[in-house]
Amino acid sequence: MTGHSAEPGEVFGRARARFSGLNGSFVFLDAPGGTQVPDEVGDAVARVYRESSGNTGAPYATSRRLDELVDQARAATARFLGCSPDEVIFGASSTALNFMLSRTLGRQLRPGDEIVVTRLDHDGNVAPWLDLAQDLGLRVRHADVHADTTLDLADLERQLGPRTKVVAFPWAANATGTIVDARAVCDLAHRAGALAWVDAVQYAPHQPIDVRAVGADVLLCSAYKFCGPHLGIAFGRRELLESWQPYKARPVPREPAGHGFETGTLPYELLGGLLAALEYHDSLGGMPAIVAWERQLGERLLAGLPPGANLYGLPSMADRVPTFLVNFDGIPSAQLSIDLAELGFGVWSHGSYYALGLHERIGWGEALRIGLAHYNTLDEVDRFTEALATLVKRPDRRPATPALS
Ligand SMILES: Cc1ncc(COP(=O)(O)O)c(C=O)c1O
Repeated sequence: MTGHSAEPGEVFGRARARFSGLNGSFVFLDAPGGTQVPDEVGDAVARVYRESSGNTGAPYATSRRLDELVDQARAATARFLGCSPDEVIFGASSTALNFMLSRTLGRQLRPGDEIVVTRLDHDGNVAPWLDLAQDLGLRVRHADVHADTTLDLADLERQLGPRTKVVAFPWAANATGTIVDARAVCDLAHRAGALAWVDAVQYAPHQPIDVRAVGADVLLCSAYKFCGPHLGIAFGRRELLESWQPYKARPVPREPAGHGFETGTLPYELLGGLLAALEYHDSLGGMPAIVAWERQLGERLLAGLPPGANLYGLPSMADRVPTFLVNFDGIPSAQLSIDLAELGFGVWSHGSYYALGLHERIGWGEALRIGLAHYNTLDEVDRFTEALATLVKRPDRRPATPALS
């Protein structure tokens, strides 16, 4: 393991001590909804308030500290994404950034132009295009998924045409954890003369990102999914950003390129938190260490699922992040999530999880989403699967059997 000789369980066990939220006995298994946050992130947010108030660009010390902080946050985020600092755009959330960037691109789209989205997407990467299409007379096409929730690349290719301007897709699915071959999709988009628009919100917490290696033109993620503050992050390829006309107040400079797209004053305190979150990741040995440990956790979860569990998505840890969608015939998932919460396990029950296309296509009704993160332990996974097995066997949670006549 990079930079550590200790066993992964030990390294990540020590990391847990940095989270007040993980000190109790409650087991957090809802990472795709939002991870727990180490104390150092909260401390960094508070430190910005204490030491760097005001705004950027003034000659006094607290303002100069903010200038420095913004530069540091851009540089650290650029390292995280594999881009240059001027290609980083901060915003309220990935959805907010997606609406803003799609609107900006819309300034150069024409009626009849086409956008391809996928049935694997969270609606945060679909609705912006549907709304833009309505306003501008564009056409949105939906690339299909296979029954195992993997993206149907052949169908995606069929959706491409001479009017395709954007292919928007998720690098990992928020409901089922399915990973998409982003390099292949970016290549297909580029061959069609379209932009590759990557939603990496669920990929970023679990796998290393290199926007250049994958060929992304735009990529979005959210810091609160990887132990950071509630802050959206976008990458935009520099030439692209320079060619677009941002919606901005006129005095805002176009340099660095990404800054022109940051509407209004940035949440500097959250940039402080983001820096701390990225430093936290580095201190664990970076993403390669996280990938290996989460694989072990995920395999343990899959092996421990009780008999009768319907798993929607891939059956092994290959090509997935550790997010699992599960339900049981005849047992309401909403009730299970309440029972589990009472027993000290945090999982969510929902219908679509905002993945409207996938929900419609696969049709799981309502299901539990079990989302692991690197701070979970094998013991937590075991306790969870045991609790789940006990609950689904409870007579009052079993589906009603027809009375004998
Ligand atoms: C895959 C995916 N895309 C987009 C979003 C929206 O992110 P945000 O809450 O930052 O708008 C989410 C949120 O869960 C998500 O899982």
